[in-house]
Formats: sequence, C-alpha cells, structure tokens
Amino acid sequence: MTLLDEVAKLEQEAIERIGSADSLDLINELKIKYLGRKGELTAILKNLKSLSVDERKEVGGKANKVRAALDASLEATIAKFSTGSDDSSIDPTMPGTAQKVGTVHIINQVMGEICDTFYGMGFEIARGPHVETDHYNFESLNFPPDHPARDMQDTFFVEGGRLLRTHTTPVQARELEKRKPPIKIISPGRVFRNEEISTRAHVSFHQVDGFLVDENVTVADMKGALVAFCRAFFGEELKLKFRPSFFPFTEPSVEVDVSCFLCKGKGCQLCKYSGWLEILGCGMIHPNVLKAAGHDPEKYTGYAFGMGVERVAMLKYKVNDIRLFFNNNVRFLRQFS
Ligand code: DAH
Repeated sequence: MTLLDEVAKLEQEAIERIGSADSLDLINELKIKYLGRKGELTAILKNLKSLSVDERKEVGGKANKVRAALDASLEATIAKFSTGSDDSSIDPTMPGTAQKVGTVHIINQVMGEICDTFYGMGFEIARGPHVETDHYNFESLNFPPDHPARDMQDTFFVEGGRLLRTHTTPVQARELEKRKPPIKIISPGRVFRNEEISTRAHVSFHQVDGFLVDENVTVADMKGALVAFCRAFFGEELKLKFRPSFFPFTEPSVEVDVSCFLCKGKGCQLCKYSGWLEILGCGMIHPNVLKAAGHDPEKYTGYAFGMGVERVAMLKYKVNDIRLFFNNNVRFLRQFS
C-alpha cells in the first residue's frame, strides 16, 4: 500500500467512526487517535522521507486536506452534542410551555350561576326529559287543545305523538305531581323551538325555570325572591319593573325588566335607548295547574318564573349574536375561560 493509499484509508475510517460516535468522550479519543501529536496521521507522515520530492508534495497536500476534513467533522459532531444532550444548554429557570385545558362552556357557566343564586335561597334542583309529552309540555300547564297560546311556542313534533319540550316549565308539572308542599324547585336545561335561526333566535337554547308552592304564598314573596335574584346576579343598585303579561300557566302573569346595567337606565345601545332590559317571565301559578297535579288551590298558592340563559348571557357579556354560542369557535369561547 502506498502512503497515499494509507492516508486515504485513514480518512475513510476516521470519518465513519467520528460520524457514528455517541459521546463527547469518544470524540475526544478519536481526535487524539487520528490527529494527535502521536496520532496515526503523524505516524504515516513520518515515512515521507523515503519518497521523491514530487511524491512528498502529493502526499503532504493530501494529508493537509484530510486533517482539515477531520477537524470539520469533529467540530460538527461536537456541536451536535452540545445543543442536544449537554446539560449546560438547558435553562431550568425558563417558563414551560403551558398546556391548554378546556373550560366550562359559557352557557353552562351562566346556567350554573343562576342556579347557584337560587340554591342559596333554598331552592332544590330538578331536571326533566328533552322529549316530552303534550300533556306535560302543554295540557297540564293549562294550554287547552287548539288554544292559540300554543302558537307562542313553535313546536318540533317527534314519533309517537311526543315533542321536544319548548320550555323547562314541564318540569314544574312533573315535580308538582310527585311532591307535597312546601316545594321550592329550580330546573335548568335545554329547550327546542321550530324557529328561523337568526341573531336573536335559535332552534335550541337553554332556560331556567323555578317555582315555589306553599300555604299563603303571595305576589310579594315572588317580587322579593326575584328582586333578590336580579340584584345578586346583575348588581346591587339595579331597579326592577313588573309589567303585566300573559302565560297560560300563571295568573296574574308578569314580565320583569331590570334597569340597564350598562348605562344605569340613562339609555344606550344595549337597552335600545329605553333604559330597561327584559329579563324574565313570572306569575302566580294558575289554579288549574295546581289542580291538574292534585293540589288544592284553595289551600296552596305559589309563584313561578322562567328565563332564557342565552338572553341573560348576551346581555351580561354584550354578545350580539346567539349563534356565537353554538359555533364552537375556540377564540370566542376562550374569552370566557
Ligand atoms: N315558559 C315560558 C317561556 O318559555 C317562560 C315562563 C314564564 C316560565 C312564566 C314560567 C313562568 O315558569 O311563570 O316563554
């Protein structure tokens, strides 16, 4: 083997071993083995003396190139180690990458807050089925068959003469049947209406209904409870306005407006410059509803109320399109985390 061949062979072997080295210690060992003062390249070059001037030039030139190539390869491998596993490159004081966690949907948050407020006032929570009978959704709540009041709530009918509940008030009929007064119930949940979807209406949304039945319950009890709720939920300095209205299951029926919490009643875009926001429906439970559930309306009276969760959430958080709650756009939902 000529000296030139020996240099070429050394180069090939060294490049391979440096490339597959798996520790800094091994790299240093290889550097000494091939390029050190007593290393293999130096050993080969000691034999230059035996060559002609031209051959010496050739082998010497090749040896310089090999030294430069091995130096570069050693350096690259060392760099790879120092960014990868060299502990000095880790800064333990750097903040970690935060993992994103899910949050409770804003509608569930608001529904929970409404229920918590009434729970604190001694109301129990009850739920009912989404697929209801005509009896509980309408009949027992004093909607006579063919009565135009049924048109107030456009209904989705399903198989077997059943329907998707149009409000959470049927839970009142169901619980009234099961219990003996005093009864204090709050019932949150999803409801369905066959309506055109728009910025203000959807085919599915949420309501919270509540009612209380006992002896000697009066309109004053109802007002007291609803004023306490609205102030706890929207703010202490709030004013309330009770307006006559109509629901088949209450008599008298009332709608409650609160003074706009944004402009404090002065008039702004949120309250459409009226100073008032419509928040809930309520009334004294109709004697027919108590009778249908087997209670004596001469002995017991009660009040009931119901509100739309999306509506309350839209007002409280100034959301201008109900569809935003259901689009599952994470950037929208994250604002409420
Ligand atoms: N169920 C009514 C609706 O969906 C809301 C309502 C009004 C519920 C008055 C009540 C009530 O319990 O007393 O429009």
